[in-house]
Amino acid sequence: MSDWVEVGKREEIPVLGSRIVRRKEGDIALFRTEKDEVYALDNKCPHEGGPLSEGIVHGCRITCPLHNWVMELDTGKAVAPDEGQAKTYRVKVENGIISVEL
Ligand code: FES
Repeated sequence: MSDWVEVGKREEIPVLGSRIVRRKEGDIALFRTEKDEVYALDNKCPHEGGPLSEGIVHGCRITCPLHNWVMELDTGKAVAPDEGQAKTYRVKVENGIISVEL
């Protein structure tokens, strides 16, 4: 069973930036694109676990700060030729409040 959990306000995330939601099961990184879309992925690169929240958002992608793998924010999938997938979470934003499905 899953639940929608409020995790903060969109305006708390800088455009093209990120914010971390701390959880005992592993941190989630929230990303905000220049189009004001918000995505949630495990804060763990599928390559060697780099902190995706410290990467660079460009378009609808995030570049990992460690070895520059690029992941799609909507699917978490690494862009070819790299292979792997970060776990993603469904996100909704209502009245500027972000909720993540956990
Ligand atoms: S840990 Fe992310 S590219 Fe290596």
